[in-house]
Amino acid sequence: MYKRFLKNYLFRLEPEKAHHFTVQLLNIVMSIPIISHLFSWYYNYQKKGIEKYVMGLKFKNPVGLAAGFDKDGKLIQSLNGLGFGFIEIGTVTPEPQEGNTQPRLYRLPADEALINRMGFNNDGVEAMAQRLQTISSGDLIIGGNIGRNKSTPNAHAIKDYQKCFNTLFPYVDYFAVNVSSPNTVNLRELQDKEPLSDLLQLLQMLNYKQSKPKPILLKISPDLNKHQLQDIAEILRYSKIDGVIATNTTVSRENLTTPDHEIEKMGKGGLSGKPLQEVSTEFIRSLRELLGPEAVIIGVGGIHNEASAIEKLEAGADLIQLYTGLVYEGPGLVKRICRAIAKKEWN
Ligand code: FNR
Repeated sequence: MYKRFLKNYLFRLEPEKAHHFTVQLLNIVMSIPIISHLFSWYYNYQKKGIEKYVMGLKFKNPVGLAAGFDKDGKLIQSLNGLGFGFIEIGTVTPEPQEGNTQPRLYRLPADEALINRMGFNNDGVEAMAQRLQTISSGDLIIGGNIGRNKSTPNAHAIKDYQKCFNTLFPYVDYFAVNVSSPNTVNLRELQDKEPLSDLLQLLQMLNYKQSKPKPILLKISPDLNKHQLQDIAEILRYSKIDGVIATNTTVSRENLTTPDHEIEKMGKGGLSGKPLQEVSTEFIRSLRELLGPEAVIIGVGGIHNEASAIEKLEAGADLIQLYTGLVYEGPGLVKRICRAIAKKEWN
């Protein structure tokens, strides 16, 4: 239904306007109890055995919404009706910020991809925490994806992550430490050995001070080389964080069908969707080898159908996430993937 009706309309709007329209529509529809129940009944895949126990948490299914769709945690209750097993909100920063100037989001329909340079537009972590205090997410697992403000230099970035971590701690089930967005200048340098090691050790120290520590995952870029990936695996091991989210968007523009001149007009930003599929799956495979069976891996990048989801799980992911696939395929994709996973009977 999405592909036949709503997508045609949405794809005539500017991509960011289409996002806001979708969100408003979802909020209106989900505020009507009978419709929200109908959506829940239609989109939630409820077969026994689809649930997954990871990081001490029960996921009703292993398919999550990737960070960036609900940057402020405003949509949790509406999204709950679309069948996701978990939702990662953010990236949130300590102070509110507007993000980059518009336009900053582009579609590449020929590649089933998006390019974005949103730049962590968000209301700030305190507003998010206040909002989360007032809502119940039920059986939906919520991840908090945290980052630094644009105005904070990397030398002081730890303070930003610390503030986001402490402020969100009571309200999320796990943390994703985002050091891999290409749209905040120099952010990805925090993936270097020394700053990364300092950052993760500090967060883990804060975590261990809590009576019940929460899982922490590192979200990485697909543009790292083999050597950098090995360094990261080593840091993950000794900082004893729970695992990794692989991957964020890429700055690569290789192997695209969209003509070069159109891509150039779009400018800088992170590419997501189908062209990312293989690269991120290879990252998952390498990380599973480097980290062994205990570490948690959330696989994300280019999931657009059942096979691309299963591919990530077979490469070693415990859980998967998607964003761009939702734009091109609609919410029914989540249920289709759940059904395919259930057939595989891994759980
Ligand atoms: C993203 N992504 C992202 N990731 C993140 O950690 N923090 C963020 O704020 C955002 N923002 C964001 C905005 C938009 C418009 C897109 C398309 C993506 C990256 C996202 O979570 C995911 O890692 C990649 O998009 C790859 O997955 P898909 O989209 O190929 O399924």
